[in-house]
Amino acid sequence: MALKIAVVPGDGIGPEVLAEGCALLRDLDRTLDLGLVFDEKDWGAERWLKDKVGMPKGALEQLEREVAAVYFGALGDPRIPDMAHGREILLGMRQGLDLYANFRPCKCLHESLSPLKGKGPREIDMLVFRENTEDLYVALGGTFKQGTVDEVAQDISINTRKGVERILRHGFDTARARPRHDGMKKLTMTDKHNAVRFGGGLWKRTFDLVKGDYPDVVAEHLYVDVLAMEMVRKPERFHVVVANNLFGDILTDLGAALMGGLGLAASGNIHPGKIGMFEPVHGSAPDIAGKGVANPLAAFWTASLLLDFLATKDATLAPRLLRAARAVDAAVSACVAAGPRTPDLGGSARTKDVGDFVRAHVGSTLAA
Ligand SMILES: NC(=O)c1ccc[n+]([C@@H]2O[C@H](COP(=O)([O-])OP(=O)(O)OC[C@H]3O[C@@H](n4cnc5c(N)ncnc54)[C@H](O)[C@@H]3O)[C@@H](O)[C@H]2O)c1
Repeated sequence: MALKIAVVPGDGIGPEVLAEGCALLRDLDRTLDLGLVFDEKDWGAERWLKDKVGMPKGALEQLEREVAAVYFGALGDPRIPDMAHGREILLGMRQGLDLYANFRPCKCLHESLSPLKGKGPREIDMLVFRENTEDLYVALGGTFKQGTVDEVAQDISINTRKGVERILRHGFDTARARPRHDGMKKLTMTDKHNAVRFGGGLWKRTFDLVKGDYPDVVAEHLYVDVLAMEMVRKPERFHVVVANNLFGDILTDLGAALMGGLGLAASGNIHPGKIGMFEPVHGSAPDIAGKGVANPLAAFWTASLLLDFLATKDATLAPRLLRAARAVDAAVSACVAAGPRTPDLGGSARTKDVGDFVRAHVGSTLAA
């Protein structure tokens, strides 16, 4: 069976890092016969400026019908200051494809990358799940008396029992299936139900109910302010963390900083069992776009998450897809340990140097 991947390079450094990521995926496909088919999309700022189209009509339906996963670069262009095209494309996919589970590994690959004294790869190794379709991001609300001194603004946070339960169950399933490197199986749910009573209360009640189905997973609750402090003070106490959309958004950027910066942080947005959209966490980085110095490691790590997801969709190909994913992980780790580093990680290498190193490393892992 062919596994079709829609490739959306987007804007700025998006096309630069995805070119490297796609070259790696094509190498893997050739070596391991993974059945990958690529379908490149021109969605982004240029098309928006030309004909005001973000995602063409029927595109979501085509993705749902034909595509196993989306490999996404970044959006953002100074000529579109309100990010109108980004909202249509990115939020369109997250909502339109019901990609309710956003997840980001927060894993430090090398001591030299950690901003925390005495904390390195053994301590910083967690997986943060963010509910991706509800909360304050549903664009419900409005303003009253806008532009006057009496202006009132309201954003409505939506939390549904179904939405909360499915992200919690996915988090628990993941904690059970993929223990931390030291064997820990734990899920920390975070909210602020002492102050945000209604939505927070629904999260806490649902958590108390669902955790009963996972007696083998340690279930912990922390208020989000305490969690933020503990992620810095004692990251080793966390394995899987589950948060709502807003808290998850903020916590995952803290997570990116703990692992060494945006040049490394990878993410997936998935509807388990259906489709997934995989993107480096960083944006289009207009300050370095076109200079050939963007760090492609986040895009490589993202490719590994994508391969893991594809393995859940095809049992026959799964062993080869997982082998490919682990080879990419090993190459990314080897690169930060002893390979070329781009300027964001303190080196002077170019995007292509890192890409060449990673592809060569993957090649020799698979040949061994
Ligand atoms: N998912 C997305 O597509 C996404 C996410 C965040 C921001 N954005 C958009 O991107 C644009 C720029 O936003 P920003 O500057 O706040 O965030 P950004 O992530 O693009 O850049 C922040 C800083 O990190 C650096 N950086 C980011 N990725 C890097 C990489 N791979 N290698 C080396 N350095 C890297 C940049 O040079 C910049 O100094 C804006 O239009 C914003 O809306 C898009």
